[in-house]
Amino acid sequence: MSALHNFFFSIYPYICLAVFLMGSLARFDRDQYTWKSDSSQLLRKGSLRWGSNLFHIGVLFLFAGHFVGLLTPHSIYEHVISAPDKQLMAVYSGGAAGFICFIGLSLLLHRRLFDPRIRLTSHRTDLAILIILWIQLSIGLATLPLSLHHSDGGVMMALGEWAQRLVTFRPGGAELLVNLDWPYKIHLVLGMTIFFLFPFSRLVHVWSGFGSLAYLIRPYQIVRARRMNVPEGHNQPRRPGASV
Ligand code: HEM
Repeated sequence: MSALHNFFFSIYPYICLAVFLMGSLARFDRDQYTWKSDSSQLLRKGSLRWGSNLFHIGVLFLFAGHFVGLLTPHSIYEHVISAPDKQLMAVYSGGAAGFICFIGLSLLLHRRLFDPRIRLTSHRTDLAILIILWIQLSIGLATLPLSLHHSDGGVMMALGEWAQRLVTFRPGGAELLVNLDWPYKIHLVLGMTIFFLFPFSRLVHVWSGFGSLAYLIRPYQIVRARRMNVPEGHNQPRRPGASV
């Protein structure tokens, strides 16, 4: 195992995770007015409706799929589904979501590059993040035929074990990825880089998107008219100088 491989798969993940968590906290604390999705809907609706909706449906499915797929231990899911079947399910469902996401993201990118109003009001990071997501998605889609070749689920198991060792601080994860095909390796490194860039871009709105789920369980607000149950005459405007 080369030193570079060891760096990217056992040290770089922690650098990215630390920047992601501490950077998001610092940005929220120091710069709350810049914490937003920076909607451009008022400038031009055009392809935004299709682009943004397709992109978000796809990316949220992919996000949940990666999270659950990588971090659920084999000992838990093996009672429900075998590794080869899980891989097949991931390839087909991830492929469909990736395709939807790809169409949406391409529309968003085209709009941001070629609509003069949107281009003029875009920050460099707005463009950079869309391009990086587009490359990441394309490489992810390019790994699908490779995954169909390893239909025994071996690659998926190695990736899951690597991710689970990382989050539980167990060593030895990087060794499992030595023989992985290069598109997977680039996909992993770029994926971690997105976490690294997260706090410095509009991606911080993803925290708020998930945070808004708290509205489902928050206590309801009691809104009462000021004059309710107040005896007649008590709600008249007070005369200047009158005692309280
Ligand atoms: C958690 C739920 C999420 C919510 C509620 C949400 C909401 C939004 C909103 C309101 C916008 C502005 C759209 C407009 O211009 O009007 C936006 C844009 C964007 N979102 Fe999300 N988002 C979520 C998750 C994500 C995720 C997981 C990603 C990617 C990792 C993402 C990436 C983006 C990007 C790149 C843009 C900018 C698109 C453009 O160039 O116009 N979002 N999001």
